[in-house]
Amino acid sequence: MSVTILAIESSCDDTSVAIIRDGYVLSNLIANQDIHMSYGGVVPELASRAHQANIVPVTQQAMVKAGVNNEDIDAVAFTRGPGLLGSLLVGTSFAKGFAIAQNIPLIEVNHLQAHVLAHFILEKDKNNRLPSFPFLCLLVSGGHTRIIVMKSQLEMEVIGNTIDDAAGEAFDKCGKVMGFTYPAGPLIDKLAIEGNMNAFRFSKPHVKGLDFSFSGLKTSFLYFLRDRLKEDSDFIENNKADLCASLQHTIISILIAKVVNASLQTGIREISIAGGVSANSGLRNEMKKEAEKRNWNLFIPELRYTTDNAAMIGITGYYKYLRGEFSGHDITPLARY
Ligand code: KG4
Ligand code: ZN
Repeated sequence: MSVTILAIESSCDDTSVAIIRDGYVLSNLIANQDIHMSYGGVVPELASRAHQANIVPVTQQAMVKAGVNNEDIDAVAFTRGPGLLGSLLVGTSFAKGFAIAQNIPLIEVNHLQAHVLAHFILEKDKNNRLPSFPFLCLLVSGGHTRIIVMKSQLEMEVIGNTIDDAAGEAFDKCGKVMGFTYPAGPLIDKLAIEGNMNAFRFSKPHVKGLDFSFSGLKTSFLYFLRDRLKEDSDFIENNKADLCASLQHTIISILIAKVVNASLQTGIREISIAGGVSANSGLRNEMKKEAEKRNWNLFIPELRYTTDNAAMIGITGYYKYLRGEFSGHDITPLARY
């Protein structure tokens, strides 16, 4: 019997709705909220209002694109957290309403687990290569930086975590210092391609074990620019590409060094990356080089499944559906999961 899931993602500033049938994506639509760009970060109040405006039309379009109607949906999966509470409330309430109206199960999804399970999203007419268990995942997003051992689709063990900022925050905050709009990660990636990654050196943190720290890098980048700007007020403008390349290189080497250690410690050579920062072309290339050198079986998600999307919520919902893991209607979102 086939299973069709309606999936809702509203944890931050993107309203996304997907339809997943038997693990295959039928549609995956994302409404971005450009309104936050000029504020230098996501404004929670504005984000929840935009979700409220977008959620019904985006759902309708996702259903039309997938060629399904309300009666075809077997369950509704939604992001319960972590994320912005006001944003999560919109998705949660909509999911509840839909589930009650159709009398179908409701499935809560952990946004971070969903980023990792993006590796199991199937696409028609594609060579769908899936990781086997156990595998390691470097999860790098705007709010989290973790190394996870995946033991099955629904069993994960966090073996490394950031003790302060996330990798995505390092990109975004350093970008802000250079005057870039939010989120700065994609622009830094683009500019870095033209730059020299050895032009400037920024100190790397010494953090024990498999944990990460990025707040020191942000501070040293800030002080470095402050000093250089005293000598040359156009320093940023004149060195943009080199600054981006050097900063990106520093972040990537911090990340990859820990993945190498995690692989050596656990003996696992099935390696993956996930989350918004896994869209970074430098990280993707360096991971490929490292995989060749170390004989890793590497999994990198399609770009469209790296940043926030509902397809990843749908695939996680699908595996929970198969296990009968449903939620009650009294469920509430969790800003921290
Ligand atoms: O996973 P995501 O969409 O949202 C969270 O769950 O946080 O990640 C967003 C983060 C932002 O910090 C953004 O700057 C970063 O991912 N990002 C990138 C790139 N694309 C998105 N960072 C570096 N290079 C990119 N190409
Ligand atoms: Zn995310």
